[in-house]
Amino acid sequence: MAKFDFSKRDSFGSKIGIIAAAAGSAIGLGNIWRFPYVAGENGGGAFLLIYVGFIILIGIPVMLSEFTIGRRAQRNPFGAFKLLKPKQHWYLVGLMGIIAAFTILAFYSTVAGWTLEYLINAVSNNYDGKSPADLNNMFDAFVGTGTRPVIFQLVFMFLTAAIVFSGVKHGIERYAKILMPVLLLIIIVLCVRSVTLAGAAEGLNFLFNPDFSKIRASTVLEALGQAFFSLSIGMGTLITYGSYISKKENLSTTAVQVSAADTFIAILAGVAIFPAMFAFGIEPNTSGEGLVFKVLPLLFNEMAGGFYFQLLFCFLLIVAALTSTISVLEVVVASAAEQLNMSRKTATVIAAVAISILGIFCTLSLGNLYIGIPSPYPGVFKITLFNILEYLSANILLPLGGFFIVLFLGWFLGKQNVKNEITNSGKIRARLFNMFLFIIRYIAPIAIALVFLHGMGLINI
Ligand code: PFF
Repeated sequence: MAKFDFSKRDSFGSKIGIIAAAAGSAIGLGNIWRFPYVAGENGGGAFLLIYVGFIILIGIPVMLSEFTIGRRAQRNPFGAFKLLKPKQHWYLVGLMGIIAAFTILAFYSTVAGWTLEYLINAVSNNYDGKSPADLNNMFDAFVGTGTRPVIFQLVFMFLTAAIVFSGVKHGIERYAKILMPVLLLIIIVLCVRSVTLAGAAEGLNFLFNPDFSKIRASTVLEALGQAFFSLSIGMGTLITYGSYISKKENLSTTAVQVSAADTFIAILAGVAIFPAMFAFGIEPNTSGEGLVFKVLPLLFNEMAGGFYFQLLFCFLLIVAALTSTISVLEVVVASAAEQLNMSRKTATVIAAVAISILGIFCTLSLGNLYIGIPSPYPGVFKITLFNILEYLSANILLPLGGFFIVLFLGWFLGKQNVKNEITNSGKIRARLFNMFLFIIRYIAPIAIALVFLHGMGLINI
């Protein structure tokens, strides 16, 4: 007997709920943890400029494409491609998305676990009076032990699974709606403190004054990968969320609003981190994936009421991470439930356990169980499984997925079908439709292909 009942498929309850859930997926550790350290390693201002260019030119069109596919098919990514083009192999794009979900969640849950350690340290006032060197040592010692980070990672995976278990409206939407606006407020407070530190100007200069001599082939691919990662696009997360959006909503404005909110938060995170980093004498490209955990406590130490702000911030960082991890797990769960005819609950348990196993190795690869490859780059000691999964998902799987998604929409779904879905069958005007079509047919696929091949060193432009 079929366990998955399509007539009882879940959906979002309100417009604000959709935006909160999609923005909740987009806004997460990618903005606050990954953006500052990747921007720092790739030269700052020039990276930011290319990144924002990619968000506008490629990110928003890919996001709208995902919403369109999802809402049209009312299915998980795998099932959506199968339903819309039954005799072709497009479902492989859905399959690639599921692989991306595994790789992302494996390393993302590692970092999400770090946020729990951060909270415990904040509650215990362990950061009080610490120097940059102390924080560096604290972070490295924690990550190096292996067991604590694994326990926190598993706690985080458990929380994620518990929410996905209870479904879209009651789980995902309810939390996202309340907590995302509070996160915005506290980041603004952090920015104000950071830019008023002595020596802050150098950080702002680093972030907003592009120095194009710092751009390498890999920088452009990193910017593209970060744009995909931060917007949660390229692996079907927003196909899945699109499938829960009602036929009355305006998909184009939702895509623009979500992308704008996501980019705004990433830039604010940069404004909070870079001035502080320069003020405390920390080099932008030396802290790697530990950057925010080494800088932010210093910033809170400099703040009146910093103890309380830091607590609130940790809590919100955890929530921001959680609204993202649930969206990744949801891709796997929706696909397994609908395609393999399982109940949502069984699918959640199986997916969470499988991902956690990969995740544990990923966390241990940064600690005393070294799993990885020797680094070909001078100065970089080793490349760990963590680094490999992060690179593979952000810079390879997501852009590749995005490439096929825009191709599908531009060339295979049918212009009239796309137009009907985006205009709600002619009920809303889509003034920029022709431009959108031009972008998804030509600009986005060609740009993604060129950046990808160039960044991988396969072509030389
Ligand atoms: N966009 C999330 C972040 O910036 O933290 C991470 C993410 C979520 C990536 C969902 C991909 C995804 F499908």
